[in-house]
Amino acid sequence: MSRLRLADSKLIVTGAANGIGRSAALRFAEEGAAVLVADRDARGGEETCRQIREAGGQAFFHETDVSQEASVRDMVAKAVSALGGLTGAFNNAGFSEPPSAFDESDFSTWQAVLAVDLTGVFLCMKHELAFMKQQGRGSIVNTSSVAGLVCAPGRVAYTAAKHGVLGLTKHAAREFARHGIRVNAICPGMIDTPGLRGSIDDAGFAALSERTAPGRLGQPREVGDVAAWLLSEDASYVSGETIVVDHAGLTR
Ligand SMILES: NC(=O)c1ccc[n+]([C@@H]2O[C@H](COP(=O)([O-])OP(=O)(O)OC[C@H]3O[C@@H](n4cnc5c(N)ncnc54)[C@H](O)[C@@H]3O)[C@@H](O)[C@H]2O)c1
Repeated sequence: MSRLRLADSKLIVTGAANGIGRSAALRFAEEGAAVLVADRDARGGEETCRQIREAGGQAFFHETDVSQEASVRDMVAKAVSALGGLTGAFNNAGFSEPPSAFDESDFSTWQAVLAVDLTGVFLCMKHELAFMKQQGRGSIVNTSSVAGLVCAPGRVAYTAAKHGVLGLTKHAAREFARHGIRVNAICPGMIDTPGLRGSIDDAGFAALSERTAPGRLGQPREVGDVAAWLLSEDASYVSGETIVVDHAGLTR
């Protein structure tokens, strides 16, 4: 007997105008969730909503900058009013700086990456947890990276921010365990998204694929599948956990 894994779920997905976030939002909606698509890219966000509705799902867009507390506060309020509540969130918005030597890194680039990739996750969690604590239930999944576990050469801000996301995840998982709230993180390896494609040319992409263990990059949907499971009751005793989605990439 089949059942929808996220039936009756009301979820925020940040960074949902593109890449992993869009694919995850579509996946969650397929599994029965109503979704608040949150992104600073309004055009891409509306397109994600259009695709969800076309497939028969329910979605609303909210223009959000996760690095700004007022914007995040509004995002959570909008989710509660538009979806009729908030049962979970996929805090996924993020980006990486271009490669540079540590000692030549630009301070404003460091600040910009940390503001979105670490402070953004902190702010989203803060406001989501405040609501979920009141209702005594919730599930949060944060997007870290394999760069949260090992260094991404040439990308010190990204490495530091993604390590920090795992710290936030463990901290909240412990603190909110008795409030019926689970908090987990996903560490994707190389995933074929516009974010990644925009940073390399075709030859670089082919070389990157060849370097992976299975000889191909991951698809955004393969990250969304894991996030859907973590958000669902099928993972009811899983919290404070980090799941690597990189098809054996970290095994060498
Ligand atoms: N693609 C990969 O190989 C890979 C690997 C590991 C981790 N990740 C992580 O996965 C997440 C998604 O990456 P992606 O590859 O899908 O990237 P992407 O560039 O395709 O999509 C990222 C989305 O985040 C949004 N965003 C950026 N800054 C924002 C802000 N301040 N407020 C709201 N939205 C904002 C962008 O507008 C975009 O829609 C990121 O956190 C990234 O670090 C990606």
